[in-house]
Amino acid sequence: MTSYQAPAKINLSLRVSNKVREDGYHNVDILMAPIDLCDTLEFHNSRTTTLLCETPGVPLDESNLVFKAVREFEKLYGRKAKQRITIIKRVPFGAGLGGGSADAAVTLQAVNEILGTNYGMEELHAMAAVIGSDVPFFLNPVVSRCTGRGEIVTPVEHLAGWTRPVVLLKPQFGVATPYAYKMLTRSRRLRGVNYGVQHLDDIDFVNELERPVFAKFPLLAAMKMWLKEQEGVRVALMSGSGSTMFALTDTPEQAQAVAEKARAELDPTLFVHCGMVNPQA
Ligand code: C5P
Repeated sequence: MTSYQAPAKINLSLRVSNKVREDGYHNVDILMAPIDLCDTLEFHNSRTTTLLCETPGVPLDESNLVFKAVREFEKLYGRKAKQRITIIKRVPFGAGLGGGSADAAVTLQAVNEILGTNYGMEELHAMAAVIGSDVPFFLNPVVSRCTGRGEIVTPVEHLAGWTRPVVLLKPQFGVATPYAYKMLTRSRRLRGVNYGVQHLDDIDFVNELERPVFAKFPLLAAMKMWLKEQEGVRVALMSGSGSTMFALTDTPEQAQAVAEKARAELDPTLFVHCGMVNPQA
């Protein structure tokens, strides 16, 4: 058995072009950072490829991005990969944290190692981009700028050593990414909500998917405004297409206090996680 960690991400910044491309995607300009929240994937050689996961709601069929990764790999490999893959899920899904994409990227790297195929970054990147726009980032999860539809990834050297305590809050519902993009030009700003750029550590924090997502889920806008008022919170933003809202603080203790207060004051059923952005820094 071989075990791999798949870290999640948050979007420090996400800007989207209003124009739909010919392929149906939108051009984006994203600043992405890894966080210390990880899924674990275990690989066993097997007679066929099967997926196991005890978390309810995770599809175990071909629609799972891990399965898509295996199939994409097999196209190049020309044979079956034959792995029994157990996913220990800690990253919530429909959350804007890239959990499924991270699992897919790790799967490509894992089968490449286990089967000894030694495909290089170029081949892995090509397979990753077919699986999803966020997947290439997770082949080398360091603070990166992602452009094109998200698949063109450039590490940001001057942020390699940047880190911050973070608190994540996610309500029980998730957001479907295609919905957020579809509503981009058909939604309005909610009154009293601050969508503007927030500055911290020489980084501009903004998420242009907040407008369409908040229009359907005003609770997320309320969470953002609540977060911004909490002691020690320097930035509060939605990650990706939601439904995770995150806040950056000065100290881990402040992040912890915000998480506890959020459960007490907002919703006792919130998923919360306190940790670090870019934990390897
Ligand atoms: O690439 P991925 O499969 O994660 O994208 C899911 C959906 O999100 C796409 O089908 C598209 O509707 C939307 N999307 C987009 N522009 C992007 C990324 C995603 O419109 N850059």
